[in-house]
Amino acid sequence: MSRKKIIAANWKMYKTPEQSRQFMDEFVPLVAGHTRDEIVICPPFVDIAAVVEKARGTNVEVGGQNLYWEKEGAFTAEVSGEMLVGAECKWVIIGHSERRQYFGETDDTVNRRLKVAAEAGLSPIVCVGEVKEEREAGVTGDVLRRQCSRAFAGISARKAAKMAVAYEPVWAIGTGLTATPEMANEAHQLIRQEAANVFGEEFAQQLRILYGGSVKPENANQLLSQEEIDGALVGGASLKADSFSKIVKW
Ligand code: PGA
Repeated sequence: MSRKKIIAANWKMYKTPEQSRQFMDEFVPLVAGHTRDEIVICPPFVDIAAVVEKARGTNVEVGGQNLYWEKEGAFTAEVSGEMLVGAECKWVIIGHSERRQYFGETDDTVNRRLKVAAEAGLSPIVCVGEVKEEREAGVTGDVLRRQCSRAFAGISARKAAKMAVAYEPVWAIGTGLTATPEMANEAHQLIRQEAANVFGEEFAQQLRILYGGSVKPENANQLLSQEEIDGALVGGASLKADSFSKIVKW
């Protein structure tokens, strides 16, 4: 089974629209003609229009970093799936650990967001991962199984067809520490098994599971050449065109 890998940038709260345009002017030529992997950039909401404009007609796709589960209404500062689609986003990140850590995201709210993202026709990237204490306590497997089963609850395989999952061990995010390929493989197998339990074996074999946490040009090849690793979600090293293009070309 060959799964096309996804190399996705999570810019977090970095870059103004002008800085986003500058990045794209540099980045797009560096990856022109690259078709082996799907290339995705998830900028802050206010930069989406700038990135979309530069990405049009190229091999670069755009995503949001979050979305709200209501269609519209009096929900100040929130953004709906329909709005992201209207802004020409194809992707959306859901349940990033920073949302879980700082903004009250729970397995239940991840599930609600996943449902509306699928409904809107977006390709969701659902983030899961254990914190350091959980790994040290030997409960990583339980945590990943719980996060996946709750995120996937009540969604049909057909609705979830465009979903990808990102395994991001929280202790590896922005720390310079990365999971070893063995650790990532083990976690990815577990996530794939959980997807098989919920959506069936065929779905699970097609599901793309990305690794995230201090991916950089120096370790991209080692991680991405693993059979179980179907892409990367990249924070810090995605902010410079040169380094992100090197990861794309792992
Ligand atoms: P990092 O972030 O690459 O800076 O570790 C990854 C992420 O949070 O998605």
